[in-house]
Amino acid sequence: MSLENVLIDELRDLYSAENQLVKALPKMAKGSSTLELQELFTEHLEETKGHVNRLKHAFEVLGEKPTGETCKAMQGLVKEGEQQLNNDHEEGATKDVAIAGAALRVEHYEIAGYTAAIAIATSLGQDEIVALLTETLHEEEEAGKRVLAQARPLMEEASSGGDGIRSNVMEMESVAAPGGDVDDLEVEIDLEPEPEDESDEDAPARRAAGVGTHPTKRASR
Ligand SMILES: [Fe+2]
Ligand SMILES: [Fe+2]
Repeated sequence: MSLENVLIDELRDLYSAENQLVKALPKMAKGSSTLELQELFTEHLEETKGHVNRLKHAFEVLGEKPTGETCKAMQGLVKEGEQQLNNDHEEGATKDVAIAGAALRVEHYEIAGYTAAIAIATSLGQDEIVALLTETLHEEEEAGKRVLAQARPLMEEASSGGDGIRSNVMEMESVAAPGGDVDDLEVEIDLEPEPEDESDEDAPARRAAGVGTHPTKRASR
């Protein structure tokens, strides 16, 4: 198999993945109870339609058809996301944390796919395709950062509800992403339920870090 064929396979995989997301993102928006998450998924849906168009453009450059592959990995990720959406045992912030987790997996899968495709297109000297895919990669990275930024107050909200989820350390200035400007991503979740009381030594540090200071807007369902 030539390197160009490997690129075509990668791009078909991404094309399938993006089309699956065009269908999945409205469901994720509908299933989230936080307005910010709903907004994020709705806005990323529009970007995702643009990702599909950029891939079509890349196939035109290559003189190939975009169809012919089914991205099974994305099928699995979407299925996991649907399980979170259909989970009747959780609700509110806790459910939204789970939905955000599923969304973050999706964004990182896309980041990995575009990073690989860009590397191959670069070595083939396909500059136009590299430019198209790089634009999309940046949008995926931004989407991943936004999901993380939303997860932080949601975890605090879920924690104050006493369900045992408590974020101890979350530095999410940026998400670990390929391509150079990788910054710290440190997420540590202590699953041990702890009472919120005066003796909570981490509370001042969390307050100083701004954790839990931005109340999330709850959408009416
Ligand atoms: Fe995408
Ligand atoms: Fe995405």
